[in-house]
Amino acid sequence: MDQPLLELRNVSREFKVGGGLGLFSRRIIKAVDAVSFSMPSKPWITALIGESGSGKTTIARMILGLLPPTSGEILYRGRKVSEWIKKNKMEYYREVQPIFQDPYSIYNPFYRVDRVLEIAIKKFKLASSREEARGLIIKAMEDIGLRPEDLLGRYPHQLSGGERQRFMLTRILLIKPRLIVADEPISMIDVSLRAIFLDHLLSFKEKHGISCLYISHDLHTASYLADNIVILCYGRIVEEGPKNHVIEDPLHPYTKLLISSIPIPDPKRRWIDKIDLRSVESLRKFRMEKGCVFSARCPYVMEKCLSETPQLKSISLERKVACHLY
Ligand SMILES: Nc1ncnc2c1ncn2[C@@H]1O[C@H](COP(=O)(O)OP(=O)(O)OP(=O)(O)O)[C@@H](O)[C@H]1O
Ligand SMILES: [Mg+2]
Repeated sequence: MDQPLLELRNVSREFKVGGGLGLFSRRIIKAVDAVSFSMPSKPWITALIGESGSGKTTIARMILGLLPPTSGEILYRGRKVSEWIKKNKMEYYREVQPIFQDPYSIYNPFYRVDRVLEIAIKKFKLASSREEARGLIIKAMEDIGLRPEDLLGRYPHQLSGGERQRFMLTRILLIKPRLIVADEPISMIDVSLRAIFLDHLLSFKEKHGISCLYISHDLHTASYLADNIVILCYGRIVEEGPKNHVIEDPLHPYTKLLISSIPIPDPKRRWIDKIDLRSVESLRKFRMEKGCVFSARCPYVMEKCLSETPQLKSISLERKVACHLY
C-alpha cells in the first residue's frame, strides 16, 4: 500500500477538569482514547461519526495542529503534524484546510468578504498580480454557484448563513488543498442548502482530487458522501469500514443502534426520525471506565465486556470492529 495521506496512530487526548474553588475534585477526561485510522493518498472521503462529546472536534483540532495529542502520533504524508507546524507551517495549511461549523469564525466583521479571499491568495501566493487574483476569485465563485457581482463588496453580516458557508467553499476552491477537515460543516445551514454543500464536497474530490475528513453526528449524510465510515463512541473507535458495508451490515452493537434510527425509504416500515446523535441523550451518561465503553448500554453484554477493553481488530480485508462478539 502506498503512503497514507493521513494517519492517526494510537492517538489519545486527555483534559484535566474540575478543581475550581475546591468544590469539585479534579478529574481527567479521556476525550480521545487510543484512536487509530488512516486515509489513503487517492482522493477520498472518510466520515468520522459520533455523538456529542465523543471527541470529534478534539480529533479535528489535533489534525489541524491546534492541539497536541497527549500520546500517539498524527502523520500527514508520513510526517508528524507537529513537525509540519514547526518547520513548514504555511505548506501544511496550503495542503490541510479546515471548514468549521460556524463560517463566521473566519470572517472579520469589519472587512468586506472579499478580504477573506484576498488574504488567502496573498498568504499562499496564489496569484502574482491584482488582476490575476481578481480573475481567480471570480472563477472560484462562479464554480460554487455564487454571483460575484452580488456578493463582493459586502460585509459578512450582509450575507445569509448559507452564502457565508458557500463563500468558505470558494476559499477552499482557491487554495485547492489536498485535505479538508470539515467539522460539522452543514449543521448550521438551512436544510435545503445542505445537499448542495455536500455535492460541492463530492465534486471537489472528483474534479480536483481534494480529500475530506467529514466529521458529523449524522450517519445519513455520511452514507451519502463518504467512501468509508469510522464510528466513534466515547472517544474510542468501535467500528470502521467501507460505507456500504457499515450501513448495510453494521457489526458493532453501537453502530447497529445508530443504523436502526436512519430513515428507511420503505413505506411499509416505520419511518423513524432522521438520526441525530445529539438526541441520543441517554447514551452520554454511560461511558464505562473499565472494559468496553459501550457495555452499560449493550444488549449483548458479556462478563468479559465489563473487564476487558476490546481492541479494534480487522475481521476482513477492509473491516474493523472493537467488540468481544467478533
Ligand atoms: N479544552 C477542553 N477542556 C476540557 N474538556 C474538554 C476540552 N475540549 C473538549 N473537552 C471535553 O472532551 C470531550 C470531547 O469533546 P469534543 O468537543 O471533541 O466532542 P465532539 O464529539 O466534537 O462533540 P460535539 O458533537 O458536541 O461537537 C467532551 O467531554 C468535552 O467536554
Ligand atoms: Mg464538535
